[in-house]
Amino acid sequence: MATFLLLVDSVVTLTMPWFAGRVAQSLLQGLVPDTLLLAWLAIMAVQALLAFGNNVALGQISAHVVADLGSRVYDHLQALPLSWHQERKRGEILALLTNDVWRLSGFLTGTLTPLLPLLFTCAGALILLMRIQPWIGLAVALGVPLLILILKMITRQLRPLANASLREDAIKYGIAEQNLASLPIIKAFTREDEESARYAAQGNTVRDLEVRQLRITSALTPAVRWVGAAAVLGLLWLGSHGIATGTLSAPALVSLLLYGLLLTQPVSQLAGVYGQIQIARGSARRLLDLLSESREPDSGQRPLHSVRGEIAFESVAFSYPGRPPLFAAIDWRVRAGETVAITGANGAGKSTLAQLVMRFVDPLAGTITLDGVDLREFSLPQLRARIGLVSQNVLLFNATVAHNIGYGRYAASQEQIEQAARAAHAHDFISQLPLAYETIIGDEGIRLSGGQKQRIALARALIKDPAILILDEATAMFDPEGELGFIAECRDLLEKRTVIIISHRPASLALANRVLRLEQGELAEVH
Ligand SMILES: Nc1ncnc2c1ncn2[C@@H]1O[C@H](COP(=O)(O)OP(=O)(O)O)[C@@H](O)[C@H]1O
Ligand SMILES: [Mg+2]
Repeated sequence: MATFLLLVDSVVTLTMPWFAGRVAQSLLQGLVPDTLLLAWLAIMAVQALLAFGNNVALGQISAHVVADLGSRVYDHLQALPLSWHQERKRGEILALLTNDVWRLSGFLTGTLTPLLPLLFTCAGALILLMRIQPWIGLAVALGVPLLILILKMITRQLRPLANASLREDAIKYGIAEQNLASLPIIKAFTREDEESARYAAQGNTVRDLEVRQLRITSALTPAVRWVGAAAVLGLLWLGSHGIATGTLSAPALVSLLLYGLLLTQPVSQLAGVYGQIQIARGSARRLLDLLSESREPDSGQRPLHSVRGEIAFESVAFSYPGRPPLFAAIDWRVRAGETVAITGANGAGKSTLAQLVMRFVDPLAGTITLDGVDLREFSLPQLRARIGLVSQNVLLFNATVAHNIGYGRYAASQEQIEQAARAAHAHDFISQLPLAYETIIGDEGIRLSGGQKQRIALARALIKDPAILILDEATAMFDPEGELGFIAECRDLLEKRTVIIISHRPASLALANRVLRLEQGELAEVH
């Protein structure tokens, strides 16, 4: 519809020189062109309405593209494997989601949609020129591609510059994002000056690239205007000859000049189109590359109704990309309802075992089964819904305590939240927070102590009531009384499900039916 409106606008615009010519003719004949002027006024009113409609239509398209493409890109980012995110900087990913989406939407509405009407205006003006005076029309028709070619040469540098500036801008964004999240470290190690300088230097890189782009884009409009003015003067000169030799009338010259003027704007816009396509291509490339990255492998269809909770590793081999193999062939069986503890040195791969069960990563060889069925046969959401993982690095949302705990269960009630908090030995300290369960805990739970965060994470896993519970050093930051209190009361919590406890603490290990030690890629029972 926007293209159609713009096309109508083109047609209306093309009538203007004709009106001017007719008015000039009436004036030369000594007549007052009443009706003509009224008709012209009406047409201009139509044009004003069209301009309004066009702005609304294009603005709407742009807003829709930003919203729809943005959420599509977001969905895809969310569906990509964690490893994809771990290999990249978050700031740069965010720049894709904002800068590139925004640029592409600007291209669609600012360049692509108006392109056909623009071409139509050019072609129309040229044809009408030729109708008035064929050889003048022809001369202008030959001049247009020449002008576009010149402009194209001026803007040749634009695409690499625009791409470079977007890339550097993303890096700048990334520095800010990371530094603001790591502010306590910057302050503790008094690296403020260094970080300020780093950010400023990156800002200057972006600035220089932008200034270089600006020089080129700023040259465009005056250049086009000058060429347009020269063309109009040329038309005037040619037209004057025509009038002198009697081959052209004065009203025809008026129309001729106005058609010439009318052409300069779309022609200069057409010249800009090339540069804009180049810039948009960069953004489109990056977004398409992102959208073609494969999502987490999730082809399982098998329904998962009741889970007994038996987990078995069969000759599982795994290594992180570019790292030496972590496990060559792990064989391990956790019986349903059993509580198993795993110890082992830092970096032995204990957390990786949890990641494998969760299918955050998949084995390179061998299989992991749940109740005898390969994990890959279940859909990821089905599988993950049955597992409660309290990971070593606690991640919490900057929201209320209740929201964070309730996140573990869809539409959790206040009662369930409190019950889970009590089970995780979190209720007491939560009650003492200024707004109790309604207290906002800050970015990454910064307004809580480490042990408090762990307790909330534990409550969030418990509220899920999972068939399999994996506690990855989940009580490492508990105070000894807190840990003992939790352990003393968690027997029935552990009884109902399969539990894997990754821990170094004797008290936690004592909870387990069996203790295994992970060493050099091998799991061996500790007696
Ligand atoms: N995302 C990752 N990419 C590459 N290597 C990793 C990644 N996560 C962990 N590692 C490496 O794998 C090894 C095992 O890590 P992890 O399972 O976290 O050990 P643990 O929990 O036993 O301390 C470590 O050497 C660690 O450096
Ligand atoms: Mg670990």
